[in-house]
Amino acid sequence: MARILITSAIPYINGIKHLGNLVGSMLPADLYARYMRARGHEVMFICATDEHGTPAELAAAKAGKPVAEYCAEMWAVQKELGDGFRLSFDKFGRSSSPQNRRLTQYFAGRLAENGLIEERAERQVYSNADGRFLPDRYIEGTCPNCGYDRARGDQCENCTKQLDPTDLIDPRSAISGSTDLEVRETTHLFLRQSALKDRLDAWIDAQEGWPILTTSIAKKWLHDGDGLQDRGITRDLDWGVPVKRGDAPWPGMEDKVFYVWFDAPIEYIAATKEWADGEGKGDGAWRRWWRTDEGADDVRYVQFMGKDNVPFHTLSFPATIIGSGDPWKLVDFIKSFNYLNYDGGQFSTSQGRGVFMDQALAILPADYWRWWLLSHAPESSDSEFTWENFQASVNKDLADVLGNFVSRVTKFCRSRFGEAVPEGGAPGARETALIADLSARVRAYEGHMEAIEVRKAATELRAIWAAGNEYLQEAAPWAAFKDDPDRAAVIIRLSLNLIRLYAVLSRPFLPDAATTLLDALDAGDAAWPEDVGAALSALPPGHGFTVPDNLFRKITDDERADWQDRFAGTRG
Ligand code: 2FM
Ligand code: ZN
Repeated sequence: MARILITSAIPYINGIKHLGNLVGSMLPADLYARYMRARGHEVMFICATDEHGTPAELAAAKAGKPVAEYCAEMWAVQKELGDGFRLSFDKFGRSSSPQNRRLTQYFAGRLAENGLIEERAERQVYSNADGRFLPDRYIEGTCPNCGYDRARGDQCENCTKQLDPTDLIDPRSAISGSTDLEVRETTHLFLRQSALKDRLDAWIDAQEGWPILTTSIAKKWLHDGDGLQDRGITRDLDWGVPVKRGDAPWPGMEDKVFYVWFDAPIEYIAATKEWADGEGKGDGAWRRWWRTDEGADDVRYVQFMGKDNVPFHTLSFPATIIGSGDPWKLVDFIKSFNYLNYDGGQFSTSQGRGVFMDQALAILPADYWRWWLLSHAPESSDSEFTWENFQASVNKDLADVLGNFVSRVTKFCRSRFGEAVPEGGAPGARETALIADLSARVRAYEGHMEAIEVRKAATELRAIWAAGNEYLQEAAPWAAFKDDPDRAAVIIRLSLNLIRLYAVLSRPFLPDAATTLLDALDAGDAAWPEDVGAALSALPPGHGFTVPDNLFRKITDDERADWQDRFAGTRG
């Protein structure tokens, strides 16, 4: 049994996330966590809300609420939606937690002790119209790297380059739109990432089998242009982690907070402490996941995120960890994703374009979305959500292939043999061939899941469902029943066991359907099929079951047209 630490990029607190956000980190992380638990490993699966910085302040101002109150409310909303999608976090924390405040201040103190923090008088954009400095997202303009005209002060969404607000061409205030801006001097703390460049470079080089998307983005920012830049880690804002040097005040920094991207990844660690505190466990309980001197050298740590987050996780956060000089656990594998687009354009939170998590659950249960999103995860390139494709996948894969198999087998058994696994007969060549085929497929499925090849895993799972359908079609128990009821009994006995196997294998993708099936079969244990042949006789003759309700319904053309209309872009 191994220990697997899994973190999903923590979503910004401002507003409900859309399906593109979901499939870019939280959902595939959940798939992996569920799979690893099913294989008997000890898993710690962490996520949280990213509550500091300008996104939170801007959204709270728009909602007309104090920012702390806004964050508390939105955390509860996001938590409930995560539960709705069956995201099986061990802890869904908050980056504004006292645990994160202390840990962030601790890391800053360690970095300072190691000579990696520098105070610099910085020239920063001041808005005369707004009467304040404009950090990060309070300022928009044209990206100096790629020319994108809506780049934000902290990062260009288009080319992923990390920016400072003063880098932007034709800058304007995101609060008032004013261009009456000037540059003033203010002192900030800088993390001397450049001093860590060689160590980061060597660390990236030592990683084997990382997705190309991950390493190419890291290498780009290590080597392009002037190489890795030092990074301002403080901001002139009220809301955030107050700047302190460990427990001590930091002279001159009294009115400043740490930059949101400094404290956000530290929340992965802090949330694990939030979990331990919440469970009434001691510090050893979370430190064994994070301190290599306290057992974490045995941990495999896997991170999930969208491509725009890669620079922070391959460079900035490791710089914090390495620079601390403490034996904190570094990530072992970074799974990154491209973007999911929406019906010929982009998902847009500001324009309300696309489907958001609450809307999705209001129209269909979680499993329908989980299946489509995971089987179309934007792994090797961006992918696109269209309603036609969604309808086709749900109707075909879930209703026609998996749902129909379950319904045919259980209903046929009930009408011919009653609601128990039928007795009699012995398996023949067809059954032997099916078991051999499925054994190979299950091993391939495991390989894809272990490698976190999400689409390939979904394709293999679908093939496993289809193999059962083909078997049933060819073995035709309804025809056999007339002359040879024992033969029909063999086929149905195996098929009922196949349903159990499908429930176990599909559970990471379709947790609710799996529960429905296991309950209907009164399956008791849902052990992973290490031996497929043995797993296919787990339900013995005479074992009772009930016919489950229709597992998946089809999406009609009218519904599809209606939803297409509704989500074209109105949510404000
Ligand atoms: O891009 C985002 O949604 C960020 N809130 C992700 C932060 S991940 C981390 F570092 F905590
Ligand atoms: Zn750009």
